[in-house]
Amino acid sequence: MLMDELHAEHEVIERVAGAFLTYAAIPSAQRRAGDGAAFLRFFRLYASHFHHAREEDTLFAALRDRAGLPADRGPVATMVSDHARMASLLDHVEAGLGTGADGDARLRESATAYVHALWHHIDAENSVLFPECEPRLRRNGVRELPSRPIASDERDALEGGRALADRYPPPAKPDVMRGDGCIMCPAFGVTCRGLELEWWNEWEWDEFEDRMNAG
Ligand SMILES: [Fe+2]
Ligand SMILES: [Fe+2]
Repeated sequence: MLMDELHAEHEVIERVAGAFLTYAAIPSAQRRAGDGAAFLRFFRLYASHFHHAREEDTLFAALRDRAGLPADRGPVATMVSDHARMASLLDHVEAGLGTGADGDARLRESATAYVHALWHHIDAENSVLFPECEPRLRRNGVRELPSRPIASDERDALEGGRALADRYPPPAKPDVMRGDGCIMCPAFGVTCRGLELEWWNEWEWDEFEDRMNAG
């Protein structure tokens, strides 16, 4: 089932992202150069090309085409623009990786920006988007969504990422606030008004009001 796969993928992506912060804090003279390239491969091929792409071409497409949810605004548009923003943050990371000692601070900054964006994104999907889309798809008769097998280069990138996560244990106390729900999403109130205003239909509001009146 696609949703279960996507959930499981978040766990490994999250762990490798934490490991990347550890790696980026090492001065360039002591960093294993090949590991930087392996991190990039993991984020590009596994996180982006395999994971984000299946969200967009299968899950978000089903929300739009089969559950009638807007894709040009609200949570789906926010997730899609996050994907694009993370791809460009990764370009900065790549530039930082190639600059030697002069680039140490630059790599740390670009890695932190990328990893924090990724973590916020995963929190939003895990706590709001995924749980909310399942019943909405089910109501529209969608019980299963197709997935696709992982390609061999994506699998290599995944294996490389797992090895990196073992080699560079993530910081014990990440210096970023993480949490569940729309309130914790950087897009809330900026480009997205939150799940209720963006996704609820008339009867969901009616039901909510009934519940409030009954209470
Ligand atoms: Fe995503
Ligand atoms: Fe995701």
